Amino acid sequence: MPAAGPIVRKRRLAVLVSGRGSNLQALLDAIAAGTLDAQLVGVFSDRPAAPALQRVPHALRWSADAREFPSREAFDGALADAVAAARPDWVVCAGYLRILGDGFVARFRGRLLNIHPSLLPKYRGLRTHARVLEAGDRLHGASVHFVVPELDAGAVVAQATLAVEAGDTPETLAARVLALEHRLLLAVLRLAVDGRLAERDATALFDGHPVFMPLRLDCAGTPTDPAGFRLPPQ
Ligand code: GRF
Repeated sequence: MPAAGPIVRKRRLAVLVSGRGSNLQALLDAIAAGTLDAQLVGVFSDRPAAPALQRVPHALRWSADAREFPSREAFDGALADAVAAARPDWVVCAGYLRILGDGFVARFRGRLLNIHPSLLPKYRGLRTHARVLEAGDRLHGASVHFVVPELDAGAVVAQATLAVEAGDTPETLAARVLALEHRLLLAVLRLAVDGRLAERDATALFDGHPVFMPLRLDCAGTPTDPAGFRLPPQ
């Protein structure tokens, strides 16, 4: 009889969303295709009408209208309790448009990731594509970072870049960056579920080593990191 190998349980992912949910869909597709070895344990939203919620069965949905809570802390507390009840290994903000309070971040710190449509530290916050065009930047892209209380300021794990083209509008840029986001998020989550990512003292660790420069991916999918971090195909 062959020796039984260790039973490795699938890593549990909770995803926070506010809108359309195309990043969530990229994760769902990858899980279904067997290219992301993880289990989705809940999708959480501050907007009960968010289309993203429709992408998963009722049993995986949690939402509450943040405006109906007396304070940010009260909403964050309810959200944190719901997320904790799903016992996630990783909590992923994928188009979650509300600032997470200190209490929420403290509860999930070190396993809380966000995808942001800019090459951080440039262009924290909103309107990133328009701001890139206003500044005349030639490069743009997306970042995945650990979440800290300050907005879009946590340790960056990985980035993917693309060239700004003549004639680009905020809309055309947003569409190209979004396609890149899906691939970047997936690539980073593969590292996360494989146990290769961590955060210590506000620094991202990859295979136990500090990430001083974000792992970088180009839009052709060519790994530019010596560790051979690969962007999955489109
Ligand atoms: C993405 O660009 C994400 O980076 C930003 O909001 C957008 C959400 O897109 N924070 P989707 O809901 O995943 O389609």
